[in-house]
Amino acid sequence: MADQVQSQPPAPARAERQPAPPCALVIFGASGDLAKRKLIPAVYNLAAGNFLPDEFAVVGASRSEMSDDDFRQKMIQDLHTFETGTLDPQRVEWLKSRLSYMSGDLDEPRTYERLREALAAVDEKWGTRGSYLFYLAVPPSQFAAIIRRLGDARLTCEEGGSWRRVVIEKPFGHDLESARQLNRDIREVIEETQIYRIDHYLGKETVQNILAFRFANGIFEPIWNRRYIDHVQITVAETVGVESRGAYYEEAGALRDMVQNHMFQLLALTAMEPPISFAPDVVRDERVKILRAVRPLAPEDVLRETVRGQYDAGVVKGKQVPAYRGEKGVSPTSTVETFVALKLYVDNWRWADVPFYLRTGKQLPRRVTEVAIQFKRAPFILFRETPVEQLEPNLLVLHIQPDEGISLSFEGKVPGPVMKLGQVRMHFQYSDYFGTTPETGYETLLYDCMTGDSTLFQRSDLVEVGWGIVMPILDVWSALAPRAFPNYAANSWGPRAADDLIQADGRRWKDNG
Ligand code: NDP
Ligand code: BG6
Repeated sequence: MADQVQSQPPAPARAERQPAPPCALVIFGASGDLAKRKLIPAVYNLAAGNFLPDEFAVVGASRSEMSDDDFRQKMIQDLHTFETGTLDPQRVEWLKSRLSYMSGDLDEPRTYERLREALAAVDEKWGTRGSYLFYLAVPPSQFAAIIRRLGDARLTCEEGGSWRRVVIEKPFGHDLESARQLNRDIREVIEETQIYRIDHYLGKETVQNILAFRFANGIFEPIWNRRYIDHVQITVAETVGVESRGAYYEEAGALRDMVQNHMFQLLALTAMEPPISFAPDVVRDERVKILRAVRPLAPEDVLRETVRGQYDAGVVKGKQVPAYRGEKGVSPTSTVETFVALKLYVDNWRWADVPFYLRTGKQLPRRVTEVAIQFKRAPFILFRETPVEQLEPNLLVLHIQPDEGISLSFEGKVPGPVMKLGQVRMHFQYSDYFGTTPETGYETLLYDCMTGDSTLFQRSDLVEVGWGIVMPILDVWSALAPRAFPNYAANSWGPRAADDLIQADGRRWKDNG
């Protein structure tokens, strides 16, 4: 079994990225939604950016019967549908030539024997040298069994300079105990260094930019603490409902689906201490320290400082949308939450007593993911007749999506003979400075797996600590059924109780229109 913080093989410095080394990407679940919407477009974008070697191939595997040609046609058709940039016909042909498919039941040991033969043929044809990246784009209940069968078929052995890595999708476990069990199961077969637990938020450029913003600029770090910061708000608002994923969502709910993973990543990157280097485990150590410092919630804290909601029917862009309970795959009496707001504290010297307010929900009025850092008010009345409580505090907002950028609001003098103050917003927009490149968020993550850089992936302890924070909430919520679900209309900013939560502290949610 691998050591939790085992050192990693050196990855190329991010600034000097070369094409990835020769390898084959095996997509388990190749006929599914993730493969068509994200993975194949991401592979194309990597190819278009010259980040893939010529010795590269993709082997798709799932139950659906398809020939190699059917698979190629389907993937290229999906690429035309889901790729956001312009397609280069030569690159498309290149990718098409590298695609092959194997139908088979992943519950069957024989499938893995056939896969081994297929991969040997791919090595022979494309020079992929026995290095394989197995991507588990399959239902989470199958993660452990697939890895066990890969091990039984000796497909996880790294021999003769080749590497074998496994990418595990979210959700990683259903609660703390199942996440621990999954970690134990997979580490009986493979080393921690072979495991890439993915959280696609860490693949987003603007999420990675939190680190660049904080640690590549000298001016922010001195004020990034309890002395200057009043509180932090992290918002992930979605305008969509559960769409076709009702059955999955019934098992998950917003707390498991968004808070325990994506939102905790945003929290960790915003609050972590500067790492002494960007080596994968050094950065991951700092992230995990923040989650460990989150003050455990007692049951009465859960009642006071967390809010859950479920959307009702409503009108979105002039169209009637159903309530959550009316969605396909959802029970008409479901008590699963589609909205969460909560307050957490990070108990360390930097953040003691600074509240972190988190909120996420589906069917909200605007799609917005952002981290808003509100600084303390100016301390006294400098300007005659301007009561200090009328001065707006400075607000620094890291806009993750869709309007990627950073803005800073501050007070300025309104021109004229009287001293009148007005709020000014300075805004940096990513696209103005760096242009836009088509991306799904999975490009960096796939490339990092191929080059062996696990900085942006979840280590087992990170996942478990995240579950540890939400467990008291899950326990209280499952013991006390919500009384008034549904409790917010689609196209509204969530239940009234979410406003009460923050207003009880004399604060308010940032107005997102
Ligand atoms: P889908 O249900 O669309 O696809 C599941 C895939 O798994 C299908 O290709 C299916 O093959 C295959 N599969 C299931 N059972 C078997 C089996 N016994 N043998 C062989 N193949 C099997 O799921 P998604 O693509 O949406 O999700 C995949 C994973 O990614 C999940 O873990 C999900 O939580 C995660 N994820 C997905 C996101 C998304 O946007 N879709 C976002 C974040 C995470 P077939 O249909 O041919 O039987
Ligand atoms: C996924 C969740 O992990 O993230 C979805 O399962 C959610 O429910 C999605 O919609 C949000 O991702 P993004 O990149 O659109 O913010």
